[in-house]
Amino acid sequence: MLHSALINVMVKAARRAGRSLSRDLGEIENLQVSLKGPANFVSAADRRAEEMLYADLAKARPGYGFIGEEGGRREGADKSHTWIVDPLDGTTNFLHGIPQFAISIALQREDTVVAGVIYNPATDELYIAERGKGAFLNDQRLRVAARKELKDCVIACGLPHIGRGDHELSRREMAELQPRVAGLRRFGAASLDLAFVAAGRLDGYWERNLKPWDMAAGMILVREAGGVVSDIQTPGDPLLSGDVICGNEIIHASLTKILRPLTA
Ligand code: IPD
Ligand code: CA
Ligand code: CA
Repeated sequence: MLHSALINVMVKAARRAGRSLSRDLGEIENLQVSLKGPANFVSAADRRAEEMLYADLAKARPGYGFIGEEGGRREGADKSHTWIVDPLDGTTNFLHGIPQFAISIALQREDTVVAGVIYNPATDELYIAERGKGAFLNDQRLRVAARKELKDCVIACGLPHIGRGDHELSRREMAELQPRVAGLRRFGAASLDLAFVAAGRLDGYWERNLKPWDMAAGMILVREAGGVVSDIQTPGDPLLSGDVICGNEIIHASLTKILRPLTA
């Protein structure tokens, strides 16, 4: 399938960094048995992937700004374009050898995300979206699931881990939703949770306290697949609040109606 030059640049960069992460994942299996564990090795793998992505993207589009999880913001001469990159989303999974992690690359023009690529090298699943041009998984066009009743839906969430977020709120959210849905899931890579909603595998997803690099590419995927994405408390932009909720129009509304009052 033919994609734009921009998408080709993003895909090439994601695949190269993906090869590096795949090699490192193999090494992690050896390190698991050591007392110290692979944690330091993983942060090096993460930084290495980000440097590769920066090098490839900066070479193809000199002047664009770059925000990466590891290296922070790097200004460019072109103030209207910024890459938003998570070189390894799902670090805990990666560290444990669980093949649910991804490279996430988004391009923001002014305040709008115009393209997103998410690549899981462990499954070789490549998600692509460009504004107004649809969303794709390995060249198959994506559409969000059409289910209308929560009782038929599989919904994913994020659970704050040790030292992070509001654990009590998270338990209240689960208590409200658990009895109303076909299944709750916690996969551990926000970019792929969003991509799974775009692919119709999940009917909805919500999570709090995320960063722009966790969400930017996934959000455009969901929207280009016909879904609705917003902040949880307001109809506003999750990139500003860090809280995201999504699904088809009906499921987005049903989830929001249940979750919103919990923090009111
Ligand atoms: C994390 C993952 C996880 C989410 C965390 C994120 P990282 O990103 O997306 O699913 O629950 O809040 O920080 O640290 O693996 O890049
Ligand atoms: Ca992340
Ligand atoms: Ca990360």
